Amino acid sequence: MGARLTILAGATGHLGGLIARSLRERGERVRAIVRPDTRPGTALQLSQLGVTVVEADYGDPEALAAACEGGSCVVSALAGLRDVIVDAQTALLDAAVSAGVPRFIPSDYAIDFCKMPDGGNRNLDLRREFAERLDAAPIAATSILCGMFADLLTGDAPFIVPKVRRVIYWENADQPMDFTTIENTATYTAAAAADRTTPRFLRIAGDSVTARDLVQIAGTVTGDRYKLFRAGSLARLERVIRLTRALSPGTDELYPPWQGMQYMRDMFDGRVKLAPLDNARYPELHWTSVSDVLQAHERAA
Ligand SMILES: NC(=O)c1ccc[n+]([C@@H]2O[C@H](COP(=O)([O-])OP(=O)(O)OC[C@H]3O[C@@H](n4cnc5c(N)ncnc54)[C@H](OP(=O)(O)O)[C@@H]3O)[C@@H](O)[C@H]2O)c1
Repeated sequence: MGARLTILAGATGHLGGLIARSLRERGERVRAIVRPDTRPGTALQLSQLGVTVVEADYGDPEALAAACEGGSCVVSALAGLRDVIVDAQTALLDAAVSAGVPRFIPSDYAIDFCKMPDGGNRNLDLRREFAERLDAAPIAATSILCGMFADLLTGDAPFIVPKVRRVIYWENADQPMDFTTIENTATYTAAAAADRTTPRFLRIAGDSVTARDLVQIAGTVTGDRYKLFRAGSLARLERVIRLTRALSPGTDELYPPWQGMQYMRDMFDGRVKLAPLDNARYPELHWTSVSDVLQAHERAA
């Protein structure tokens, strides 16, 4: 058993649960901070993995600092809006600093939000805001940037539309975009948590493909003939985003349709493209391609 202890926030969530499992598979010690009112079953599952589960209220600085005591790295996989990404993560950061934890990995796991202007993408703006606090704190920080979760290509992300055998694109069908599975992101994050020498940013992509590539990949995997569908220019998408947002009854949802469109606009814009990639940093990691993801989905259907 390694001497390192990773303090994990958000372990009851999808990505956080996979990070916990991956850390345990590496033989690392893990202490998960869970909210007192979290679902009881998830805490039990974590315990069964060999994770120590500690309950702490994010409004209680002493309890949070005690939960961070002895940690070699705090990893956050929290998900939410300002109350989580800025406020709860700041409480976690303060606790980590107060407990003397040397390293912090924030819940970033996104396209390269450093390259986008303020005000354009709500969820990414919150990450930049937290990054300012993180960079001002006396702790070493590492953000993992992974593009879009590749798993979303078989779900809600409006790229591949099997019903009409189309791949939707905006402006440029030849713009490369980064996709990484949740599993790969979790495995990489666990490796980074155990690695004392990480830089401020680690950029990864299980695959980088264009909309035109997706036509070919979807066609090969399904045996159907896919075609490109040009939805319009990026200027048009911007107008659709503004209109959809103005017509939305509330803005407190984490992933309203207009937020997904902001993400898509940024990916087709290209500025968020990750480079250079740090995929090779942990050579034991096997990367899952977009084709692998579509094939697995096809087999399960
Ligand atoms: N790149 C992409 O395409 C992509 C896609 C999806 C997600 N992500 C990112 O991946 C990260 C993890 O997302 P996920 O989908 O795994 O999230 P998730 O399954 O919804 O889990 C969220 C976690 O945050 C905790 N949490 C939520 N609100 C909290 C609060 N106010 N105080 C303390 N803890 C709170 C939850 O605890 P409880 O169990 O107690 O509620 C849970 O452990 C996020 O940064 C998310 O934005 C990226």
